[in-house]
Amino acid sequence: MTAARPTIAIVGGTGALGTGLASRLAAAGYTIVLGSRTADKAVAAAAALAGPGRSLSGADNAAAAAAADIVILTVPWASHAAILDEIADGVAGKIVVDTTVPLVPPRVARVQLPSTGSAALAAQARLGASARVVAAFHNVAAHKLQSDAAIDCDVLVFGEAAEDRGAVIALAEAVGLRGLHAGPLANAVAAEALTSILIGINRTYKVDGAGIRITGF
Ligand SMILES: NC(=O)c1ccc[n+]([C@@H]2O[C@H](COP(=O)([O-])OP(=O)(O)OC[C@H]3O[C@@H](n4cnc5c(N)ncnc54)[C@H](OP(=O)(O)O)[C@@H]3O)[C@@H](O)[C@H]2O)c1
Repeated sequence: MTAARPTIAIVGGTGALGTGLASRLAAAGYTIVLGSRTADKAVAAAAALAGPGRSLSGADNAAAAAAADIVILTVPWASHAAILDEIADGVAGKIVVDTTVPLVPPRVARVQLPSTGSAALAAQARLGASARVVAAFHNVAAHKLQSDAAIDCDVLVFGEAAEDRGAVIALAEAVGLRGLHAGPLANAVAAEALTSILIGINRTYKVDGAGIRITGF
């Protein structure tokens, strides 16, 4: 017997990374609730991703988070704290997957980490101990997820509990990526910082979305 797939909310799910993850997860059979600051915008984004056999709906961010088993956060660093506050009531006891890279425009190719240490640690501190924050998907380009093409990139997955990391590794595999246990949430700073380096490599070498690959397996 196959275990039921969790329902996934994607908060900020109308954006580049959110729609890319939503499209692939929906195609893999997950039920998706897109979240937005504006419910109508989420409903429209869900309709745009609809297709045979896909289950997608839209709601405001708080309602989307409350409706799901696992919540993926895909919002800009500038609105990270405010949107965590919007969803806090609905995520107690749930895995919250933070994809946030704490970029500070305009110098996005420079590593500029927050005083909290990382976006992931800031999320855990903001949501409190009952939320199970796992950090992942920092190093995969959104436009690659939005396409149907194979993606050459690993996903480093950070979190306190191996079981929670495993649940997110399953999501990475569902979207066609290899997920790897990468240690506790404090380690997420490494993947967050790496994204600025990838942005710089894209510019310097005219790469269409550099990714990472862990070798030696
Ligand atoms: N893009 C990538 O390739 C990529 C890759 C890895 C990680 N990430 C990380 O994933 C997160 C989302 O990236 P993204 O490229 O998907 O972002 P985005 O498209 O610019 O924004 C995502 C969504 O966030 C919501 N939002 C909330 N506050 C906002 C604000 N002040 N300004 C603009 N939008 C706001 C918007 O949804 P509503 O208007 O519907 O509320 C928007 O659709 C970021 O933290 C980024 O660092 C991105």
